[in-house]
Amino acid sequence: MKQNILVTGGAGYIGSHTCIELINYGFIPIIIDNFSNSNKKVIQRLEEISGQKLIVIETDIRNKNKLVNVINDYNCEAVIHFASFKALGESQKNPIEYYSNNLIGGISLLEAMKETGLKKIVFSSSASVYGSPSELPLKEDHPLLPENVYGKTKLIFENILKDTFYSDKKWRICILRYFNPIGAHKSSRIGEDPNGVPNNLMPYISQVAVGKLDKLNIWGHDYKTIDGTGVRDYIHVVDLAIAHVKAIKELNNLKCSEINLGTGKGYSVLQMIDAFEKASGMKIEYEYKERREGDIDSNFADCTKAQKILDWQAKYSIFEMCLDTWKWQKNNPNGYQE
Ligand code: UD1
Repeated sequence: MKQNILVTGGAGYIGSHTCIELINYGFIPIIIDNFSNSNKKVIQRLEEISGQKLIVIETDIRNKNKLVNVINDYNCEAVIHFASFKALGESQKNPIEYYSNNLIGGISLLEAMKETGLKKIVFSSSASVYGSPSELPLKEDHPLLPENVYGKTKLIFENILKDTFYSDKKWRICILRYFNPIGAHKSSRIGEDPNGVPNNLMPYISQVAVGKLDKLNIWGHDYKTIDGTGVRDYIHVVDLAIAHVKAIKELNNLKCSEINLGTGKGYSVLQMIDAFEKASGMKIEYEYKERREGDIDSNFADCTKAQKILDWQAKYSIFEMCLDTWKWQKNNPNGYQE
């Protein structure tokens, strides 16, 4: 019998790619989304890719009673919890909204899980819980000192999960800390669709390539890196999605674990531009600007724990990440808006 997995935020960028991989691996995603930061067209696209009708419940996760009903009605075996706000700059401007959505929402989910006796959860966390790395590559036991509200909401929820486990050892919890997810599904039907002008590097580059933006601003070129520009650990969103499925499969053996998800390799902004130009055949104009506040020289993961515990390793190269980002952007220049 196929297992039903409750996916909160299943219409979002990482959530939607994970739903496809759940289906590929024989699970049934039960999608919950309030569509506050995602588009309903994602659902049609998921149905098109998977060739099947999906179960989607439009609700806010702060509606605990609704969650209880959904968990019971669909006899969910586990939860993958994505639903949260994720814009770093915005989190600094609107801390109350961020704490409310990310923490009250998460607590409501845990209350619903407790009430229904469902004790298995995979949580979408972020490398931002580490703050500025004191040592690279970043291992899971690195000190946790987030420097922005977004990262703090992730760390607080990680701690809530850990305390939940300490209080009742029957819980099975997997905390996944993402580095920099980029790329899109091979079909080019789902991908990242940021609101307004993108803050992150890859969506910005691809919007320059498609002619929506004039040129890339490179935030600083005096960092202590190979060419002076910032170095990050980019990971293909499909690799990331597969790691969630592996976490679901391994949950019974995990107790309460936190796991980094990256490739373990760092690439500079200039290296990313070069890879994108090669993959797309387009020229990316750029200009050097002052450093962006809060940015660091380099960030990349130690991924040995993911390999050992989940038997997972990222497979896609930087070239494929750029190619799939480009194909998505070219085929959907305005994202999900037609
Ligand atoms: C950012 C967030 C981080 C979040 C992550 C994934 C900041 C300070 N950090 O990380 O909390 O978890 O996104 O969503 O915002 N760059 C440019 N020009 C641009 C955009 C980026 O030069 O227009 C550079 C940056 O300076 C950096 C690199 O590209 O060196 C990657 O930036 P970005 O994609 O925003 O990711 P992070 O800074 O790693």
